[in-house]
Amino acid sequence: MSRVIAIFNQKGGVGKTTTAMNVSGYFAILGKKTLLIDFDPQYNTTIGLGVIHEPSETIYHALLAGQQTDRVIKRTYLARLDVVPASQDLAGALVELIEVPDRESLLKKFIDRIRDQYDFILIDLGPTVNLLTVNGLMAADEVVIPVQCEYYSLEGIPQLLDTVHLIRENLGHPLKISGALLTMYDKREKLSRDIAREIRKRFPYKVYDVEIPRSVALAESPRFQKPIMLYAPQSPGAIAYEELAKEIIRGNENQKEHSIPPKRDIFETISSHPYVEKTYEYDYGTYAPPTLDIKHEKTKKEVINGEISSDTKEPLVLMIHEEGNFKDFFDSLTPENK
Ligand SMILES: Nc1ncnc2c1ncn2[C@@H]1O[C@H](COP(=O)(O)OP(=O)(O)OP(=O)(O)O)[C@@H](O)[C@H]1O
Ligand SMILES: [Mg+2]
Repeated sequence: MSRVIAIFNQKGGVGKTTTAMNVSGYFAILGKKTLLIDFDPQYNTTIGLGVIHEPSETIYHALLAGQQTDRVIKRTYLARLDVVPASQDLAGALVELIEVPDRESLLKKFIDRIRDQYDFILIDLGPTVNLLTVNGLMAADEVVIPVQCEYYSLEGIPQLLDTVHLIRENLGHPLKISGALLTMYDKREKLSRDIAREIRKRFPYKVYDVEIPRSVALAESPRFQKPIMLYAPQSPGAIAYEELAKEIIRGNENQKEHSIPPKRDIFETISSHPYVEKTYEYDYGTYAPPTLDIKHEKTKKEVINGEISSDTKEPLVLMIHEEGNFKDFFDSLTPENK
């Protein structure tokens, strides 16, 4: 069974998009087939991941202009992570939705068509409560609530919980609150520590064990159109988001997965290959960052024909080891093209 998770807090700038992008990335790295839906007319996720799309291939077009589902689902630099982009058009949807029957559940209908292809579907919501938010929450099984460790962060929480209760009671949708997530935590600051403690005490549902630290790398990585594990994989923010992904996954350990198990021999091939400068050891395997230098056009094309949609170096490394043909790839390098 897949899990559909909305990242929700009507307060702006609390880390919703940062959480959506990076947790999705780690779900994918941890072997979970993941779809991230940008459902905010500010389309920060779409920009932050550098998703390339035609003007008519966004979530808006899938919901209201009859665009085919597969045309709006875009692959990313990471194997197993797909994205549905948004654009400013989504703001126009607010007006159009009013006229549509079932206007609260259009996103749910879209997700119902594809959810069996994924382990996780994440919805990045904007900082408002409107019909788009209602669509996002109606489509989700659960919500994760990022809460920034700052002075006013607790003030919006009663309103936020009211919105969830409204979805449950007035619209009859059994939405679960999976947990609050402390973001932009600075353990050196007393205020930050006090607020974190206060939220842990007062929030009536689970608060995730992991705290997301305030981290320059997290703020920078969208500028380079990358999730944190491709930008600064050993930074504290990366480690925290990886922990969070694991914490969220633990909730459905026994459910059906689309995972491809890591292959030890392939990881060893990556680590020992002279083209690979550096690898990172995780408890689920070895991961080679984008340090592979692929010079030969022909070889590059062969790999692209395998499974790979982009011609940059980064997805090559990731995709090859995910698809399990990394060794074959190196074997295919003949002396003249090495
Ligand atoms: N842990 C962090 N450390 C440092 N900067 C962060 C962190 N998390 C988020 N930021 C930065 O804070 C700003 C707001 O974060 P983000 O866009 O994720 O929030 P949001 O809740 O999605 O905002 P909005 O409500 O506008 O959609 C961004 O510039 C982001 O890069
Ligand atoms: Mg956002």
